Amino acid sequence: PRSAIIVVAAGSGTRLGAEAPKAFVGIDARSVLRHALDGVFAASPAQVVVVAPDGWQGDAETELRAAAGDRADLGHVVTGGATRQQSVAAGLSALWGDVEIVLVHDAARALTPPSQIDAVAAAVTAEAGIIPALPVVDTLKKVVDGVVVGAVDRSELAAAQTPQGFPRGPLEAAYAAAGDSGIEYTDDAALFSAAGHPVRYIAGSERAFKITTPADLQRARHLLGASVA
Ligand code: CTP
Ligand code: MG
Repeated sequence: PRSAIIVVAAGSGTRLGAEAPKAFVGIDARSVLRHALDGVFAASPAQVVVVAPDGWQGDAETELRAAAGDRADLGHVVTGGATRQQSVAAGLSALWGDVEIVLVHDAARALTPPSQIDAVAAAVTAEAGIIPALPVVDTLKKVVDGVVVGAVDRSELAAAQTPQGFPRGPLEAAYAAAGDSGIEYTDDAALFSAAGHPVRYIAGSERAFKITTPADLQRARHLLGASVA
C-alpha cells in the first residue's frame, strides 16, 4: 500500500538554543531538515508533507526540492502549530489522494536510516500502529522530591523513536478525537492507543536519535565526520 510521510519540522528548538529554528540549523553544509529529507527520499514514500514553522515555509520548500530531485511532485509544505500535536494535525489535513499508511517523523531525527523508514511502513497493518524503539540501557530510578523512592524494571521499558506508522483512517479519527478532547499526548502512538488501537514495535536504531541539545548536534556532526560546521 502507498504511504505518506509527515515530517514535522515546525518546532523552535528551545533546548538547542540556536539562532534559527532547529530544522534549519546546519549539521554540516546541510541543515537538520535537509538531512532528514535526504533519508526520507532514500526510502520509498508516495507522498511527503513537510510541516514548517510560520515564516520558514519558503526555506522548507527549498530543502524539499533539493532532497527530492526529480520527485518534487511528491512533496508539499504546510505551516505548523504551537504544539507538535497541532503540527501533525496540520500535516494530516494536507494529505491527498489514496495513501493508506501514514508515517509521522521528527525532522530532528535527522540521521534516521532509510531502512528504518521502510521497515516501519512495511509493518503497519489495517488495525495496528508501529513504532521503532530501543531498549533502555540506563538504570532507572523513581524520584519524588529529591528522594529515590524505588526502582523501575528496565526490561519492561523501551525508548520510542520515529517514524511512527499508522493506518490512515484510524489515525485521522484518533487525531480528530484528540483535538476535541483537548488532551496533549506525548507522541502519536500514545494518541493512537488512547483511541483504542493496538501499537506494536520494531527495533529502532542508534542513528535515529533526536537532536535536542547542543551535545546531540555535536554527536550528529561527529557521525557525519565533520568536526566543525
Ligand atoms: N515540532 C513541530 N511543531 C511544534 C513542536 C515540535 O513540528 N510546535 C517538531 C520539531 O520540529 C521536531 C519534533 O517535533 O522535529 C520533535 O520536537 P522537539 O525535539 O521537542 O523539537 P522542538 O520543539 O523544536 O525543540 P524544544 O522542545 O527544545 O523547543
Ligand atoms: Mg519540543
